[in-house]
Amino acid sequence: MSKKVPRRPSILAVIAIAAVVAIGGVLALRWVEMSADRAGGVSSGRALIGGPFALNDQTGKPVTDQDFRGRLMLVYFGYTFCPDVCPTDLQKISAVMEMLGPDADKVAPVFITVDPERDTTDQMARYLSLFNDHITGLTGTPEAIAAAAKEYRVYYQAVRDDASATDYLVDHSAFIYLMDREGAYLTHFNRGDTPDTIVAAIKQRL
Ligand code: NI
Repeated sequence: MSKKVPRRPSILAVIAIAAVVAIGGVLALRWVEMSADRAGGVSSGRALIGGPFALNDQTGKPVTDQDFRGRLMLVYFGYTFCPDVCPTDLQKISAVMEMLGPDADKVAPVFITVDPERDTTDQMARYLSLFNDHITGLTGTPEAIAAAAKEYRVYYQAVRDDASATDYLVDHSAFIYLMDREGAYLTHFNRGDTPDTIVAAIKQRL
């Protein structure tokens, strides 16, 4: 006779699912790039990543994608409670902005939260004070955040921590997107890309 013990999803299962999702995201991006190449330009791939959003910046001011026209955008989705990837990537973006010197004004780094529940305007302001002051932090309603993430094909999913009733992590894709002056996708960077690589890619487009 066996008594059925309710199974909790193991951390390995969670990691496996996250890995599959991450790989799926990478493959999707590859596909976007390949279809752009095949079309002999970037027009077909461009439309797939990026689009309109309407959120609030870290001062509470309403901001849309239109406010960044005329500048290149570095778009990154993450959250301020992220223990690992986001601080590293925001440091990377900060280094890029410093290395750009006077050209920094031609580039708008945009950090969009995937955790609007905890990332209030004040929280975003506090957190971004630790990084380069060019960075615009955007938050909004869960619906507005979901819409923005969908435009950028960003995956995110809250993962409850069994050890705590209130804490949770948010799995999320962590690409830094480089968008052109009209908000169209140019390329993206991931963990392997250094600030030098990113600066070089930006300078090609200035
Ligand atoms: Ni993160």
